[in-house]
Amino acid sequence: MAHVLAVANQKGGVAKTTSVSSLGAALSELGRRVLLVDLDPQACLTFSLGLDPDTLELSVHDVLLGRLSAGIVITKTSDGMDLLPATIELAGCEAVLLSRTGREHALRLALAEVIDTYDFVLIDCPPSLGVLTINGLTAADEVIVPLQCETLSHRGVGQLLDTVHDVQRLTNPGLGVRGVLPTLFDGRTAHCRAVLSDVSARYDIAVLAPPIARSVRFAEAPGTGRSILSTARRSKGAEAYRAHARVIAEVRGEAAAHAGSAGIAVEPTRIGAATTTGGSVVTGPLEEAPLEEAGREAATLEAVVREPARGEPVPVGADGARV
Ligand SMILES: Nc1ncnc2c1ncn2[C@@H]1O[C@H](COP(=O)(O)OP(=O)(O)O)[C@@H](O)[C@H]1O
Ligand SMILES: [Mg+2]
Repeated sequence: MAHVLAVANQKGGVAKTTSVSSLGAALSELGRRVLLVDLDPQACLTFSLGLDPDTLELSVHDVLLGRLSAGIVITKTSDGMDLLPATIELAGCEAVLLSRTGREHALRLALAEVIDTYDFVLIDCPPSLGVLTINGLTAADEVIVPLQCETLSHRGVGQLLDTVHDVQRLTNPGLGVRGVLPTLFDGRTAHCRAVLSDVSARYDIAVLAPPIARSVRFAEAPGTGRSILSTARRSKGAEAYRAHARVIAEVRGEAAAHAGSAGIAVEPTRIGAATTTGGSVVTGPLEEAPLEEAGREAATLEAVVREPARGEPVPVGADGARV
């Protein structure tokens, strides 16, 4: 059964779609069977993976309304993952779903038929906390929250976590929060670090390392119908997403392969649980960033590096060196 990850943040432009396509491509490179679900009526994921949402006849909208099975609508992409595409019709779907009993479960039920065909399902949520995002969270094992590190980012995280708690209480008690993924990251500023440190401490939430640095490579990729893993294979951004994919793959990775024939159940590994210092603060690539500008603020950060491969927090000083 696939491990289902929802990528959600009600703020637009924080790299939800980019993270879904890049993580999906990176998991696919690792040999995992991946399904991506476009839950945004703007259909940016669908477009960025080479399909024209304006000419698609079948889409996730038909699946959510129970008209078609997911298997009929799922299509292959050039980057190796499968895609349950969206069109603008999905906007109307919200209104129809609202009048239905069990509306929060529409996606979960629709995916049940194909879930054994995949190792990972990644859901690209729309920039809202409406019924589509609730469907994404209800279908998910974990949620990843892409976060652009700027003032007031924390407010969005708080609102999203409130929704997550509602979903845990009402429709999906098993939903876990994998953590905040820093995107469009500018490691040269103390501000980015301060925002991450604040979010981590305020909500006791893990900050996933490495952060995804801001790069023009990302803006170039969607127009080609491929993810950055194909268009700029060796770029830092592609490598950063690969690093995350390696950690995520462990959930259903070597352990799953080893366990496979022996029939051992493999529990999802919760990583990045917030630590007693108020959560994990990314370092990794931060170590490469000039720290002079970060100045005193950074020096006051009680930084904790999560070594993703081992999942154990490793204390470090503000200069990035282990202590
Ligand atoms: N690390 C990055 N550096 C520069 N641009 C990025 C980065 N990640 C995403 N982008 C660009 O930012 C814009 C918004 O990203 P997108 O993934 O569509 O966000 P969302 O799905 O949250 O609305 C897109 O034009 C995308 O190409
Ligand atoms: Mg998007």
